[in-house]
Order: sequence, then C-alpha cells, then structure tokens
Amino acid sequence: MKNINLVYGTMNGEAKFVASELSNYLTEKSAHHHLYEPIELSGWTPPENELLIIVCSSTGYGDLPDEIYPWFLELETKAPYLPKLEYGLVGLGDSSYDIFCGAIVQFETLLADLGATAIQPTLKLDATEHYAPERDAEKWLSDYVTSL
Ligand SMILES: Cc1cc2nc3c(=O)[nH]c(=O)nc-3n(C[C@H](O)[C@H](O)[C@H](O)COP(=O)(O)O)c2cc1C
Repeated sequence: MKNINLVYGTMNGEAKFVASELSNYLTEKSAHHHLYEPIELSGWTPPENELLIIVCSSTGYGDLPDEIYPWFLELETKAPYLPKLEYGLVGLGDSSYDIFCGAIVQFETLLADLGATAIQPTLKLDATEHYAPERDAEKWLSDYVTSL
C-alpha cells in the first residue's frame, strides 16, 4: 500500500479529532502514513506516488478554516499539474448552513483542476446526523484500505 498523507483543517478541533482517529486506524492496520499539522503544510506539495486524505470542516459561509487556507491558496496558485495524485476527502459540516460542506467542495474542485483522481466519492458528514464522524470516516477509509 502506498504511503498515506493525512491533512486536516479545523476551527474547533473536530476535524483534527477525526484525522487523529484515522491515523490511529491506519496505525492499527500497519499502514504507512503521516498526519500533518496545518503549520507543516507551507511549501509542501502532495507527492503523486502517495495517497492524500484531507479532513476539513467548513466555517463562515462555506469557507475554509483559517489555518489551512494558506495551503489551499498555495496549491491553487503554485502547485504543478498532479495527474497521478490520488486523494480522498472527508468534509465536516452542518446542513443548517446555506453552503453545506463548502470547504471540502472547494478542495474537490481544486484537486480535480489539478488533474488528480478521487479514490472514492467525497464523504460529507452532517453534524445534525453523524454523531460519531470519526467512525463514519474510518468506515469510509476502510472501504479503500481493505480493497488493496
Ligand atoms: C461559525 C460557524 C460557521 C459554520 N459554517 C458552516 C458552513 O458554511 N457550512 C457547513 O456545512 N458547516 C458550517 N459550520 C459547521 C461546522 O463545519 C461543523 O460544526 C464542523 O463539525 C466543525 O468542525 P471543526 O471543529 O473541525 O471546525 C459552521 C460552524 C460554525 C461554528
């Protein structure tokens, strides 16, 4: 299995918690991975031969959390075309807001523009329905991990 890079964007810690739980799950499965802190992302382009997983909540009006926004902009303005990159996205949101999971949709659009390929459809977790998003995210990732 290729190395997995886990990235998260959070305002109040939920996406960080979900990403940490995915990291624990991957450790249990002996899957090589690295959980990035948002501060580590400056200047980092996801390697095309490794899997990128992003867990990101939405804030404002479907916006990205402050700490991951600079990296998003960096990818948008400076990243090369990444046609061999595979990625998976987990969005945390709340359907009572006008733009549900807007932040992860922004990543989806950007990565598609960069030519990358999703390993499976983006998981969008609604806080009004998913009370244990870390378990849903783990199940979503296990579908990929066990298919390898
Ligand atoms: C001020 C504020 C703005 C939010 N805006 C949105 C939004 O536009 N769209 C959405 O789907 N969820 C929105 N949410 C819901 C959060 O994304 C959701 O509660 C998420 O689980 C928070 O995760 P975090 O702690 O990692 O930031 C908002 C929450 C807050 C507190």
